[in-house]
Amino acid sequence: MQVLVTGGTGYIGSHTVVELQQSGFEVVIVDDLSNSSADVVDSIASITGIRPQFEKFDLADGSRTHQFFSDYPDLGAVIHFAACKAVGESVTNPLKYYRNNLFSLINLVRGMTDHQVSNLVFSSSCTVYGNPDQLPVGENAPVKQALSPYGNTKQIAEEIIDDQCKVSSFRAILLRYFNPIGAHESALIGEQPLGVPNNLMPYITQTAMGIRDHLNVFGSDYHTPDGTAIRDYIHVVDLAKAHVTALERMLKGEMKEQREIFNLGTGTGYSVLDVIRSFERVTGMKIPYRIMDRRPGDVEQVWADPKKANEVLGWKAMRTLDEMTLSAWKWEQVVSRKNKA
Ligand code: UD1
Repeated sequence: MQVLVTGGTGYIGSHTVVELQQSGFEVVIVDDLSNSSADVVDSIASITGIRPQFEKFDLADGSRTHQFFSDYPDLGAVIHFAACKAVGESVTNPLKYYRNNLFSLINLVRGMTDHQVSNLVFSSSCTVYGNPDQLPVGENAPVKQALSPYGNTKQIAEEIIDDQCKVSSFRAILLRYFNPIGAHESALIGEQPLGVPNNLMPYITQTAMGIRDHLNVFGSDYHTPDGTAIRDYIHVVDLAKAHVTALERMLKGEMKEQREIFNLGTGTGYSVLDVIRSFERVTGMKIPYRIMDRRPGDVEQVWADPKKANEVLGWKAMRTLDEMTLSAWKWEQVVSRKNKA
């Protein structure tokens, strides 16, 4: 079975390509390399021994996307990651987000429909739940007013997919991720943010490396046990494996509805200070940090109820927070060595 992975040289995409190949799928990657590098294709090949096919173009280009589907008539399914994901940037440059994240999805779904490719796994986010009323968050929790254009693109994308499922034989699984961190055990692939990281984990590892002089902890007056915000951090390899499980469910015809939704998290919330402590424990290093004001738009606490994914999908996150922080550190050391060379 040939599977298209859009955004396959990105952080979650690359880990998913590895898991797909190791499960026997043939992968074609489409990525415009706007936030990743072609070297990732080599790294994937080093891990799996199989070089995925790679096409560099922007899915927001409708005619190029149409041409792609004509060039690859054997595609059976698509996993769609390609999108911009910096929450802050989406507030200052909303049109970039609506264009990149939605034009690409529309072109992709159009291409799939025209070429009778009807299986889609979509990369969504727990951001659709906003500030949840109840914890843990199950799939039936209400979708709240988006806090950023980025979050809004995920909500609109889910609706576009929903509507397409109603009028055709199109099948989709929407995966709502909590906070993916960590890197592949080989330390050959991982998260590689351009410029100053927005997210917590790469900021911690860059601080440990001496690239940043301290970490800013955004808020210590939340209504949480230690006052810092709580998230459900999930190892990126566990997350990647869930995509393979979802795809297999779809291809075996096991879906109960034409469109299914699963939360992907561990079910455990950790505070910002918990993550720092884990990092310090596994590396023996100290992370200098300063308590700052809350970051605008941040949710106080959110963690998943992963029961549906555990029971229906038959998938469970296995890796601990310490494994996540240690793998992120191993990867940071490799990246820093590469950048110095
Ligand atoms: C955000 C988005 C999420 C998106 C993800 C990937 C929201 C509500 N969440 O997750 O949808 O998929 O980014 O880009 O829009 N923190 C610090 N110092 C830092 C960085 C972060 O204290 O330097 C704290 C944050 O305040 C937060 C936690 O660490 O409490 C995690 O932050 P981050 O890694 O940026 O992820 P989210 O904001 O949860």
